[in-house]
Formats: sequence, C-alpha cells, structure tokens
Amino acid sequence: MMPFSQHDATGRLRHLTTLDGLSADEVHQFLERAQRFVRATGAAPARSHTLDGVTVAHLFTEPSTRTRASFELATARLGGTSINLDISLSSRQKGETVLDTIYTLQAMAVDVFVIRDREPGVCQYVAEHVQDHVSIVSAGEAHLSHPTQGLLDALTIWQFKGGFRDLVVSIVGDIRHSRVARSTYLALSKLGVGEIRLVAPAELMPDPDEMHQAKRLHDIDAGIAHADVIIMLRIQKERMQSLAIPSDDAYFAQWGLNQQRLKLARPEVIVMHPGPMNRGVEIASDVADGKHSVIRNQVSNGVAIRMAVLETLIENRLDRGSRP
Ligand code: CP
Repeated sequence: MMPFSQHDATGRLRHLTTLDGLSADEVHQFLERAQRFVRATGAAPARSHTLDGVTVAHLFTEPSTRTRASFELATARLGGTSINLDISLSSRQKGETVLDTIYTLQAMAVDVFVIRDREPGVCQYVAEHVQDHVSIVSAGEAHLSHPTQGLLDALTIWQFKGGFRDLVVSIVGDIRHSRVARSTYLALSKLGVGEIRLVAPAELMPDPDEMHQAKRLHDIDAGIAHADVIIMLRIQKERMQSLAIPSDDAYFAQWGLNQQRLKLARPEVIVMHPGPMNRGVEIASDVADGKHSVIRNQVSNGVAIRMAVLETLIENRLDRGSRP
C-alpha cells in the first residue's frame, strides 16, 4: 500500500488532516486566501459561490462550539450545503462502523467530510478509504492535531504582528494534551517564528522528542518574559488518566495569566486562547477581556480560515477534473 499523502498525484492538496507535510508556501497561501475573507467588525460577511453544488458533512464525536459553528458558516458562505450529523443520535450508536457511516453519506454525494474524533488516526483512516473526489478535513483529532486552529492562530499573529521572524511566542499550560499546541507549533515553525517557548509544569509538558525546536520552561514568569505573543491553553482534564494538577485555585496561583504577570511580556503583547476558556484557572477574566486579548479575533479568523481551506480543496479538485 502507498504511504498516505494529503496531496494528490499532481501535488495538489486533497485532504487536510494535519499540517505535517505542508510546505511553508502552502501555509502562507492559506493565510493570504483567508485574509481575503476577513471583514471589519459589523460589516457583512464575505461570500462566494465556490461550493455551489458541493455538500459538506460535519461529523463531530467530541463537543465543539467554535470549530463546528465556523465550519458550518464557512460552508454556507461559500454557497455549499451542510449535513450536520448528531453522532449521539446517529446509527453509530447502534454499532455502525465509522467507515459504514462515511460510505452511507458518500452514497448521498457528500464531497467533503469535516471530522472531529477523540480516536487518533481516524481522519487518515477515512481519507484512505473514500472515493477519489472526496476530501477529508480534520476538525480536531485526539491530542494530536487541529490543523485549522493552527492556521487561524498563525493568521491572527500575522494580522497583529505583521510577520513571524522576530517574534517570541510563548505557549503556556497543558501542552501535553493539546492538539492546538501541536498544530500551532507546526504552523509557526513553518512560518519561521524566531523563538517558540513551551511553558508548563513537568507533568503537562510533551515528551522530549516532540516540538523539539522549542525552548522549554517550567516557570511562567520566565516563560512569558519579553514575549510578543502568549497563547494560553485550557487544562484538558478529559484526556488525563488521573488529574495531573493540584486544585484549580492552586493552578491559577502558580500558572494563571493575570494582569501582574502580563507586565513581564512586551508592552504590545497579544494574548490568545483557542477556547473554550476556563476563566480563573489558566487565565484571569480581566486578561481574557482586556486590551491585549485577541481571542475574539481568533474566533472570527476561524471562519475565514475554514472558508480558505474548503475553497482550496474544492478548487484543487476542479483542477484535477473531478466533479462537480
Ligand atoms: N478551539 C476549539 O477547537 O474550540 P471548540 O472545541 O469549541 O471547537
């Protein structure tokens, strides 16, 4: 069997299950395309007809607010049709396999599957079994990968900082269990960020062979000193066998981002968080809502990035001569 590739035989991107294997140019192209969909607050959202005649199925087996809503909006704003299957009410609950669910929807002429799954490997497995014209997009896979989140984080940094090379970016909190951290690290590494710091207690740090280009710090004050960008992460209690942290209050005291700590970063620092936030655990409310926060910009950029991804995959398919 051929090794799995997200690219087709002509080198065009067909699936997006991970940022691994994408070139820096491909990442840049997503940011540039997404930026064309960004509108000022209050302005009418960008629309196009690229997905006319295209059906996108959104299959989520883990909870989601931002990713799911933004993929659905992206599909609608590009003129496509959505199927939003509630997996808890689907025939998966009666023992149907994931592939049988996919084949069933494929038989109804679904063109793109957007999949969030708690099991590692599901997106690639499905991508290896669908028909040639069908694309798979990860909406978050286990602790491993959340490619569109990595892209939207990069887009947000680009908008506020104008580039990547001279930046210090601190990723703080539960990095070990975070698919966001892994994908954002990949995006920022490809874009040439000057210094990426992983800032976490030892039990929440990833294994040494992961994200090995980043600096590792076990103290938040040192970790965010002179940072241009701080990305705070939620503690992923749902992915822990046993709780790796003390109480929420104790964690906030030692690791939470508050106004006092924020003064250690550069004066123009931006504060990011992929959401959902646990206010008073990893981030103080007055920081989350404060003047340095770009958390809602990240949310808006999520729609633009997902429009860019869907549009790219469908255009690539048309270039291959596949229907519609
Ligand atoms: N950032 C993110 O994936 O949020 P949701 O879980 O709400 O989709």
